[in-house]
Amino acid sequence: MSDPHRDVTSTIEALLSEGREFPPPEQFAPRAVVSSPSIYDEAENFEDFWARQAEQFVWRRPHRQVLDWSNPPFARWFVDAKLNITENCLDRHLQSAGDKVAYYWEGEPGDRRAVTYAELHSEVCRLANALADLGVTKGDRVAIYMGMVPELPTALLACARIGAPHSVVFGGFSSEALKDRIRDAECKVLITCDGSWRNGAAFPLKEYADAAVSECPSIEKVLVLRRTGQDVVMTEGRDVWWHDVVPGQPASREATEMDSEDMLYMLYTSGTTARPKGIVHTTAGYMVGTAVTHRFIFDIKPESDVYWCAADVGWVTGHSYIVYGPLANGCTSVMYEGVPNYPDKDRFWDIVERYKVSILYTAPTTIRTMIRWGPEFPEKHDLSSLRLLGTVGEPINPEAWMWYHTVIGRERCPIVDTWWQTETGMIMITPLPGITTTRPGSATFPFPGVGADVVDDQGRSVPLGGGGYLTLTRPWPAMLRTLYKDPDRYIETYWSRFSDPSTNTWVYFAGDGAKRDDDGYFWLLGRVDDVMNISGHRISTLEVESALVDHPMVAEAAVIGRADERTGQAIAAFVCLKGDAQGDEALIVTLRDHVAGKIGKIARPASIVFTPDLPKTRSGKIMRRLLKDVSESRQLGDVTTLANAAVIDDITQRAATASRED
Ligand code: WTA
Repeated sequence: MSDPHRDVTSTIEALLSEGREFPPPEQFAPRAVVSSPSIYDEAENFEDFWARQAEQFVWRRPHRQVLDWSNPPFARWFVDAKLNITENCLDRHLQSAGDKVAYYWEGEPGDRRAVTYAELHSEVCRLANALADLGVTKGDRVAIYMGMVPELPTALLACARIGAPHSVVFGGFSSEALKDRIRDAECKVLITCDGSWRNGAAFPLKEYADAAVSECPSIEKVLVLRRTGQDVVMTEGRDVWWHDVVPGQPASREATEMDSEDMLYMLYTSGTTARPKGIVHTTAGYMVGTAVTHRFIFDIKPESDVYWCAADVGWVTGHSYIVYGPLANGCTSVMYEGVPNYPDKDRFWDIVERYKVSILYTAPTTIRTMIRWGPEFPEKHDLSSLRLLGTVGEPINPEAWMWYHTVIGRERCPIVDTWWQTETGMIMITPLPGITTTRPGSATFPFPGVGADVVDDQGRSVPLGGGGYLTLTRPWPAMLRTLYKDPDRYIETYWSRFSDPSTNTWVYFAGDGAKRDDDGYFWLLGRVDDVMNISGHRISTLEVESALVDHPMVAEAAVIGRADERTGQAIAAFVCLKGDAQGDEALIVTLRDHVAGKIGKIARPASIVFTPDLPKTRSGKIMRRLLKDVSESRQLGDVTTLANAAVIDDITQRAATASRED
């Protein structure tokens, strides 16, 4: 038999050139969780649809009203219902599935643990008791800054158990970023680790946490989990070891009764200003939205599936589709601590084979990295357990889609390209694998009950075949409720551009461009604002600019995301130095480290070009569009509004010779 993967490239090219589409595989459709397209009609009355979905959860008190939209854009879902989300994620599975594995966890160095639902329940209760002993009560905010260890989901759930909103800060962020987020949320307790394993090295979480907390007066206690065993400084009276205060606690704890609209968590995300926004998610709608989308889109059969979302819990994807959605569905998940190329480039496929992963959910950037590494790594492993593949975080280019389909899915697995945001809480535009015919590169259609449109500058719906701004036209249960302590900014950011309060028309603007083809398929085109998408992570151009300007030698900086084959976008910075300082390679290194120190490694510019001036309009606005043209070696767009036309030729020359760290 010939090797079907020998000539991957030509197979993919052939398939693409045919403009192929992919109906659900025959053996897949009849047994799918959603097997009839009638679901879209059934969900047309979206309130009834969500009310029906809500019936499968455990409520202390049922809702009085499905949706209260009387004070838009502030939504209340499942009005007056009482519940605790952990009873839905844990307690209710104990009888029938207590011994079932909730997480197969694999540490980067190769250590392994399996945590059952019963064990997770006990651990959550112990930690909840310990947090209560540390003074945390309902409504107190708890910051979480950890690596990908099983205690991370435990921490989220323990907070939820006692009604303390969590604020998870991605473990790759710097101490500055951590500090800003803790201060904004006025967190009382921080849960962290000594360190985390990443690429064979121990990342010093506790050291960073110390630097942050020293400037956070709200923090009373720091709870520290030992993971790497590295030396850490424990501050007397403030810092406590997890192993000293958690294991001795009772393994049960009554869950605190929560109102449907009590805050479950906040999660900070980059916007178009330098200050990150605290996205607020509440309890009941978020639970229903994440669990239902998880089950329908990933076709979850809890009794047989092994599901792996290869994201980090530090991002919304981890919150919704590693923690809350999968646990609410009683599903078995895989969780992995480290990078995909440690100790070798086949680590992902080793994991898929070892745990017989049936559903894999990852990001296009990871797929493109794997493409570069070559098909020999997945080919070393038995991937026959896979039956469904998903992607999230950025538009997936058709070539990457086809590679995923052929090399990983072996042409057998449907692909769900899922569009959503931290703000939406749940997947919004996506195929349903049992019924949707997919087209490589398209996220296809809005989820049942979800309203989406593509509009022009004036907010008019663009006919099929055209492109514009992606909007959401109906409230949905997992939607953000507000920005923490900043309701005005919530309205301004998401609901002002296309809404018309005079006619009570409320339209959510996502910040993405999109087009629809003649058949109504949605194709996402990327951000239309100053938010970059680096390897599926949102970073604001202004955040990086202000980090650069914070350096004493920098007078001014402009930052853009330029197209990059592997990471989707790469950060390109243009920097004017103070006085007659000269930029050189050493300063580039210094500035990149400076940005990493302010925000985190992910925000480090891939290239820095020194320039005496930046292209500006007569009113002094930096024309980032032109810098993008320069960076992507394109013919320059309209330069007539430029106040200082000569500068752009100069920058073009400088950019052409600048070094890039790709
Ligand atoms: C982008 C991640 C195209 C988009 C869940 C969005 C996507 C931003 C897709 C949200 C997709 C996410 N196709 N673009 N399937 N999924 N995006 O908040 O620009 O980290 O606005 O949430 O990622 O990023 P966030």
